Amino acid sequence: MEGSTLSSTNHATEYEPCGKKLFLPFMIRMIAACARDRVMGAGGTLPWKIKKDWDYFLETTRDGALVMGRRCYEDFTGYAGTRPLVVLSRDPQTTFRHAQKASSLRDGLNVAEKMAENIWICGGAEIYQEAMPIARELYLTQIDAHYEGDVRFPPWEPYFTREISRQETIADGHKISFLILGK
Ligand SMILES: NC(=O)c1ccc[n+]([C@@H]2O[C@H](COP(=O)([O-])OP(=O)(O)OC[C@H]3O[C@@H](n4cnc5c(N)ncnc54)[C@H](OP(=O)(O)O)[C@@H]3O)[C@@H](O)[C@H]2O)c1
Repeated sequence: MEGSTLSSTNHATEYEPCGKKLFLPFMIRMIAACARDRVMGAGGTLPWKIKKDWDYFLETTRDGALVMGRRCYEDFTGYAGTRPLVVLSRDPQTTFRHAQKASSLRDGLNVAEKMAENIWICGGAEIYQEAMPIARELYLTQIDAHYEGDVRFPPWEPYFTREISRQETIADGHKISFLILGK
């Protein structure tokens, strides 16, 4: 993919949860899609069905391990067997049939690191927010359309200030921009 740094060998990331600096020796990326007003979710699922964007998500993350929240997993279960998956939940009783479970982002990253070289943070909102300072890149699909929704992608602009690449297309009558953003 043009502009992609997926083959980068410099994977180290500094992570500072609770003021304690940690060194994570692997590459972390975030991938998300949002419409106008940063809307990204509605009623536990995506507000749209845009095949081009879904195909892009599946293809981009194909060789990586995914880290996602429990609600995302419930929507993603149909694909869960297709790639290594870590699901975050604070509920000690919960288990996931096709995924490893972790009770914090930090634990989830440590589990994911053993599964694949590339780690993809896939949301939802709280997990994206926590991962903003530690993710090296953001793969963001911007859909230039209005959708009703109840979950918004957190503001990314203070963290990802560098545009690495941009591909634009039209899908379902909307302008779609596939951005790769860096720091
Ligand atoms: N457009 C996109 O790119 C995109 C991407 C992702 C999601 N979405 C949409 O967003 C919605 C889901 O996102 P969401 O924000 O509502 O929920 P979510 O993050 O998928 O799930 C929330 C749950 O994850 C667990 N969790 C979250 N942060 C955690 C942490 N730091 N440590 C441990 N557990 C943690 C908790 O589970 P427990 O309650 O079990 O403790 C929490 O209740 C859906 O509508 C989905 O379609 C869209």
